Amino acid sequence: MISIAFALALMGVQDLPAAADIEPEVTTEVAPAPAPAPEPELERDPVTGELPVDPYEMSNAHAGATPFTGTAMRDAFHGQEGIRRVVDNMVDRAVIDPRISEIFVAHDLVRLRRTLFEQFCHILNAGCDYTGRDMESSHRDLGLQVDDLNVLVENLQAAMADEKVGFAAQNRLLSKLAPMKRDVVTR
Ligand code: HEM
Repeated sequence: MISIAFALALMGVQDLPAAADIEPEVTTEVAPAPAPAPEPELERDPVTGELPVDPYEMSNAHAGATPFTGTAMRDAFHGQEGIRRVVDNMVDRAVIDPRISEIFVAHDLVRLRRTLFEQFCHILNAGCDYTGRDMESSHRDLGLQVDDLNVLVENLQAAMADEKVGFAAQNRLLSKLAPMKRDVVTR
């Protein structure tokens, strides 16, 4: 009698795998998770160039400081045009300053330039209303540290110096901004 192994060898079947080595065939296919719905792209306002923000109450009180009285501070900053130059110069410096530039990535700089201008213009009594958000809610999620604030103040000082704002006027504006530290710095 021919043994089974011999018969199989004749048929060319060699080294049959042990049952334990046979991988069970996967019969149920797991469907890939559906891709998440794409975030709706925020579109910039065709007129202002700004991205939309959630609605909020507008108030000059959100500027965070009572404005100066009289015209001395407005004049020291060379009116609205000078204030605009100071704000733009400060933002230009901040967004390329390697110490804080990352904080500004993915934020709407068009809006930031406008609201900062309004805020400074309002505080300097140069004829503007502030329409931005209050300092606490606009900085809540940024995780800012005192060092970040000090760097931004340096950028502001350089911008004011470029605008030839006198030291006394520079320091008067800085002393209006100083108490905002408690709302802006969260770590
Ligand atoms: C006293 C100091 C500060 C003042 C007066 C100030 C003022 C403002 C104003 C007016 C806004 C716009 C609010 C709005 O969009 O409605 C804003 C937003 C913002 N600020 Fe400040 N800021 C201060 C400190 C800082 C510092 C230290 C940093 C970072 C280094 C910073 C980064 C930002 C950023 C990234 C936004 C945009 C937030 C967003 O897109 O929601 N700020 N700040």
